[in-house]
Amino acid sequence: MTSQLNKDNLPEHIAIIMDGNGRWAKAKNRPRLFGHNAGMKTMKKIVRASSDAGIKIITMYAFSTENWKRSPEEVDGLMNIAVEYFHKEVGELHQNNVKINVIGDLDGLGKKVREAAVKAMATTAENTGLVLNIALNYGGRAEILQAVKLLIAQGIAPEALTEAQISEHLYTKNQPDPDLLIRTGGESRLSNFMLWQMAYSEFIFTDIYWPDFEVASYYQMIENYQRRNRRYGSTE
Ligand code: FPP
Repeated sequence: MTSQLNKDNLPEHIAIIMDGNGRWAKAKNRPRLFGHNAGMKTMKKIVRASSDAGIKIITMYAFSTENWKRSPEEVDGLMNIAVEYFHKEVGELHQNNVKINVIGDLDGLGKKVREAAVKAMATTAENTGLVLNIALNYGGRAEILQAVKLLIAQGIAPEALTEAQISEHLYTKNQPDPDLLIRTGGESRLSNFMLWQMAYSEFIFTDIYWPDFEVASYYQMIENYQRRNRRYGSTE
């Protein structure tokens, strides 16, 4: 689908919580991993639609620091999906000038997925199109904590510490904060996602399960965002 979106006032950065894979699979009497595989296909579709629409950055929440609490089978399956994504998709993404940026604690990931992520980032490092942040082993509080630790280790004086310095020590350094957060799957919460960066983001929640999420709905949400009046605490 070619984007018919008005190019004025496009969100520069969209963050997405891809929720509902498990319930989508359950409704079909299939295993949870069937849902995650379907979710990966939706992710491919939405990344392409974002490039087409001229979005500059999207951040997709693929695996949180809390997701290790799931069954070993599901965790392994999700890691395998991530490896598959990096291996199979990087060619097309590279062709489309997409720059992959994995955010999260890479050191806490298994070797296979870490190496696949590092390779995908290296291959696409010079690309100038859509920036695709994939949050893997990501936690918002942990991200802020490591930023503060780095600043303390650099010997920063408390009175010299600024919000900008914290932003510059997050995984998203040099990127604008998300303008729009989309969460599928019916829950209305942040689940430890980009807590610092989303201070002024616009939120859209939908009951649609992630595997059923369509490009048409995505573009409607962007249009919804374009009609909003962001005031950042002021009155106009
Ligand atoms: C939340 O649904 C989804 C996840 C925890 C994983 C999201 C992963 C993908 C969409 C594909 C992975 C792609 C890469 C590159 C790793 P849920 O399982 O919490 O669903 P539920 O709330 O219905 O149980």
